[in-house]
Amino acid sequence: MERIDKILANTGRWSRKEAAALIRGGRVTAEGRVVTSREEKFPSGGRIQVDGELISTEKYTYLMFHKPSGLVSATEDPREPTVLSLLPGHLQKIGLFPAGRLDKDTLGLLLLTNDGPLAHALLSPSRHVDKTYLVRVEGELEKADEEAFRKGVTLADGYECLPAGLERLGQNEAIVTLHEGKYHQIKRMCAARGKPVTFLKRLTFGPLVLDEALAPGQWRSLTEEELAALKQAGGKGK
Ligand code: URA
Repeated sequence: MERIDKILANTGRWSRKEAAALIRGGRVTAEGRVVTSREEKFPSGGRIQVDGELISTEKYTYLMFHKPSGLVSATEDPREPTVLSLLPGHLQKIGLFPAGRLDKDTLGLLLLTNDGPLAHALLSPSRHVDKTYLVRVEGELEKADEEAFRKGVTLADGYECLPAGLERLGQNEAIVTLHEGKYHQIKRMCAARGKPVTFLKRLTFGPLVLDEALAPGQWRSLTEEELAALKQAGGKGK
């Protein structure tokens, strides 16, 4: 249970003071009844409305974001626009962060959330949450590349990657599946095979599959099924 002024402030749309003013003005209802005190408490997931508009009262927010090229996977950056920069103001004030990183020039699925414990669990190296990518390279992909990925590529700095999947789709295009997430990993794996990456797009993150209805730069909330599957993958399923 949480105080109504806190619930409203958690949405990022109003300060506690502004929430109190809305309540005083009789503009807030809970389960159809006008709320009269800012101290009243309600459970998360309750039916709260402001001026008739239903407000999300869940504790955490989970967004599937189709990252376009050109944004950095950070919450703040002194020089570059971040993956939060396209969100409306109220979604920039609720502590969202990208769960994992994609390079500035990589596109595709990025989970934006403020659920620190779940993000931490999903990104923990011991969980091996799978990620798949559409990859294009310079040069021609061969059976030998598939085999090298399956055995584990050794990077230029000597790091031995875990076995990974490489499924050729065409001469220079493949689906790559990673069970770990090192810095610039696919670019470095392909470079180690002498085939520099020219295009990279993440298609899946654990059980999440990029919704192709989302154009680059668009986002949507996760569905209940997606969230349940994600919690399961993070070991936090009910
Ligand atoms: N591997 C990379 O090289 N870059 C990414 O953004 C993701 C995986």
